[in-house]
Amino acid sequence: MNIILIGPPGAGKGTQAATLVKKHNMVQLSTGDMLRAARTSGTELGKTVAGVMDRGELVTDEIVIGLIEEQLKAGDVSGGFIFDGFPRTLAQADALSELLSKVDQKLDTVIQMTVDDKVLVNRITGRFTCGSCGEGYHEEFKKPATHDKCDKCGAADTFKKRADDNEVSLRTRLMAYYKETSPLIGYYYAKGQLEQVNGLNSIDRVGLDISKVMAGVS
Ligand code: AP5
Repeated sequence: MNIILIGPPGAGKGTQAATLVKKHNMVQLSTGDMLRAARTSGTELGKTVAGVMDRGELVTDEIVIGLIEEQLKAGDVSGGFIFDGFPRTLAQADALSELLSKVDQKLDTVIQMTVDDKVLVNRITGRFTCGSCGEGYHEEFKKPATHDKCDKCGAADTFKKRADDNEVSLRTRLMAYYKETSPLIGYYYAKGQLEQVNGLNSIDRVGLDISKVMAGVS
């Protein structure tokens, strides 16, 4: 099954995608993670996108479509793909549809994670990840068992925060979401592919609701 998780920054897309990978053996395609990996490894692409990402603006369609195309051709598709943070513009949505048909795949459903914008600042500023394995945490909602040690891989003192996880950048990211990405909700609704889950519920409850949606379309 191939699904898109759509929602503003901090809606919980990455958190739920990680669960789906474990539960359903799906492949997570997060353009944000791909771009951050390019920055960490110091590639030309990473250097090109660094400032844009830190300001909270969108990287060009051409770059992210290229990244997704590479992954679609290379990925293990047995469990299907979770598109996390892609598409983000109508041009990206059209490109995804073409790319999927080229690899004989189709989009099964688009899950919109609805949230109240007021919770996003807290979710974003409280977020941190393990620098060793990438496991995500939150200062209030998902604390590690020991404050300086990753529950997943056991690494100590590796927790880090994203450069764009501050209130100024979040405002620009939210603006980009409402201007460029939210029209996709109408686009997929009109195609009969849109489902919604309440992203304000607990992490576990949101996961159960996503599983229910997926069971309904399989
Ligand atoms: P990207 O990495 O995609 O960031 P984003 O869309 O802003 O989304 P986030 O990762 O911030 O939020 P999330 O919904 O995954 O939340 P999470 O699960 O971590 O993009 C970064 C940048 O890359 C963009 O600004 C842009 O520059 C560029 N980019 C990427 N893709 C692009 C594209 N397609 N086109 C152009 N440019 C692109 O949750 C957040 C926190 O809340 C966590 O700490 C979590 O533990 C907690 N949490 C999650 N769910 C809950 C819950 N239900 N209750 C309580 N806490 C929760």
